[in-house]
Amino acid sequence: MSGGLLDVRGLRANYGGAVALRGVSLSVGEGEVVALMGRNGMGKTTTIRCVMRLMQSEGAIRFAGVDLRRLPAHRTARLGIGLVPEGRRCFAPLTVRENLIAAARAGAWDLGAVERLFPRLAERSQQRAATLSGGEQQTLTIGRALMTNPRLLILDEATEGLAPVVRQEIWEAILGLKARGLSILLVDKSLAEIRAVADRCVILERGADVWMGRPGDLTREMTDRYLGV
Ligand SMILES: Nc1ncnc2c1ncn2[C@@H]1O[C@H](COP(=O)(O)OP(=O)(O)OP(=O)(O)O)[C@@H](O)[C@H]1O
Ligand SMILES: [Mg+2]
Repeated sequence: MSGGLLDVRGLRANYGGAVALRGVSLSVGEGEVVALMGRNGMGKTTTIRCVMRLMQSEGAIRFAGVDLRRLPAHRTARLGIGLVPEGRRCFAPLTVRENLIAAARAGAWDLGAVERLFPRLAERSQQRAATLSGGEQQTLTIGRALMTNPRLLILDEATEGLAPVVRQEIWEAILGLKARGLSILLVDKSLAEIRAVADRCVILERGADVWMGRPGDLTREMTDRYLGV
């Protein structure tokens, strides 16, 4: 699984003395949607934090052929990785439009394109982000990541805690992004939606990848064993 857009090999990371990752390997190819799965605390967010160079790690992380571990953290976003982090992060005092413009880098994703994807953001363009609903804030966070015109979009629990109608809107947006050929690494707990959108799944168990394959090959036994609560 090398030669992808993102290639992660043998990733290891600790929080102080506590081992969080003890060997995670995964890849995302051009135009591929990969779901990173596993129960709470298995290392999904930590893997993403390491890829984004937000924390120290051992192992190899290559993006578009570049060794990310040799780069300072602020360069990863510029290389073309857009992150939608766990929890909704936008700049609360700024308006919707200011939030989007602040993230902008040249490319096909501009204000108009993001507002077409999430029309409610256009309706609320002058509203401060702090006053948006949770779902609107989440679409704004996704819009901000798209405004950076990433080659790879990473979504960490983008539908978590949202009303069904908003979740559906976000899943439809993700399907649309996939149709446009965007490479996506996503963490989510909605198995049915992952089955519909992911090309491949990687399952983490206590900081290591234990299974990789197509969502159609995920058996009930495996979902019970690795994803059940
Ligand atoms: N800031 C931190 N300090 C210490 N330990 C941490 C910290 N963040 C995470 N951990 C630990 O690292 C392990 C992996 O956590 P991580 O957040 O990567 O899991 P996750 O798979 O994203 O879980 P969830 O599905 O709940 O988001 C867990 O044991 C967690 O308790
Ligand atoms: Mg997490």
